[in-house]
Amino acid sequence: MDTQTLQTNITSLKGTISIPGDKSISHRSIMFGALAEGITNIENFLPGADCISTIDCFSKLGVSIQQNGDLVEVIGKGFSGLKAPSEVLDVGNSGTTIRLMLGILAGQAFQAELIGDDSIGKRPMTRVVNPLKQMGADIEGRNNGEFTPLTVNGTELKGIRYELPVASAQVKSAIILAGLQAKGTTTIVEPEKTRDHTERMIVQFGGKVERKGNEISVEGGQSLQGTSIYVPGDISSAAFFMVAAAITPNSEVKLLNVGLNPTRTGIIEVLQRMGADIEIEHINEKGEPYGHITVRSSKLHAITIEGDLIPRLIDEIPVIALLAVSAEGTTVIKDAAELKVKETNRIDTVADELSRLGAKIKPTEDGLVITGGTPIHGGEVSSHGDHRIGMMLAIAGLVASDEIILTDSKAIEVSYPQFFDHLTTLIK
Ligand code: S3P
Repeated sequence: MDTQTLQTNITSLKGTISIPGDKSISHRSIMFGALAEGITNIENFLPGADCISTIDCFSKLGVSIQQNGDLVEVIGKGFSGLKAPSEVLDVGNSGTTIRLMLGILAGQAFQAELIGDDSIGKRPMTRVVNPLKQMGADIEGRNNGEFTPLTVNGTELKGIRYELPVASAQVKSAIILAGLQAKGTTTIVEPEKTRDHTERMIVQFGGKVERKGNEISVEGGQSLQGTSIYVPGDISSAAFFMVAAAITPNSEVKLLNVGLNPTRTGIIEVLQRMGADIEIEHINEKGEPYGHITVRSSKLHAITIEGDLIPRLIDEIPVIALLAVSAEGTTVIKDAAELKVKETNRIDTVADELSRLGAKIKPTEDGLVITGGTPIHGGEVSSHGDHRIGMMLAIAGLVASDEIILTDSKAIEVSYPQFFDHLTTLIK
């Protein structure tokens, strides 16, 4: 287990960072590249541990994938060209890999077994398994398919209409991927709009998807064509430096080519509403929009974060909690019970770890209540194996008065292997 002594009491952050590729889009680019006919070239792919797990799984399914840093070539096999794996498919720490693969494997003509790490072993899977079973899927696992290891006996699927009980892009995407292989039409109704990278990618690969209000429909039996994909920088990774620049004195940080898909930009709205000095320069509006973001130090005030904003910033809540620690007043985050089933229970880990550093933060049933204005002090904290908790704590260190030791810091490699190098270049 790796341990880092964090850089604390920083007086200024200055510089420009090229943000590594979006994790959600990187996973999907491998999956769609594998399921398409012909070659897909991917630029700015995220070579983090989670996306490497997706590459490993598809290699075991007989797909030829050449990865060289952030460049990847996938030789597509089409929906019926995947091969039965001779080994278990290990998704590591990646919830997106396992949930989306369930949708893909459900419609194949072979059996496959999926496993993951200890965190994956505690994450709920029936939210995906149950709708897939309604489509005809044959999936078995611990507790009636709730937990790994899971065995998928691929079979013929039929389209369904399904109302999602939770706002989850992973569940939506798994059903869409099964729907593309099913007989007839599959329609999904979302309670709130979630990230739509899967829908955009179907269009980029020459397929069809329809959206009417909160309903998404796909026809089965489509074939997709290999293409070139540019993966914009991950706004969920950029968020750590946005918050760092806003809370550290005398700071100005520019983040290049950051994804600005409106289903992901809740963090920008939160920063603006809290009074942050933030500028957005739009570069591309087609496919996946992206642009440059500049953030400067600012005086921040508390707000309430709730409702349909939550899915648009779900992965940023740990670092938003830290932002609230630096803001004047009491910030309330609600409607975010989904945080309990992320890589860790993020309501509890955020509250526990920030409390250790002197923050006034209380967990609630569906969120957090944070009273800002209390200075952060030193201490020993842990990522608990959760990459976003680790990065949030490293950013907390910037404004801490004394030394902070971060244990289990290696978890950060899941989504941002260069995180500490980038942070060091900004510290002046
Ligand atoms: C993701 C969807 C979200 C998010 C996760 C990535 C995706 O999960 O938290 O980090 O790529 O579809 P849920 O679908 O469980 O909300």
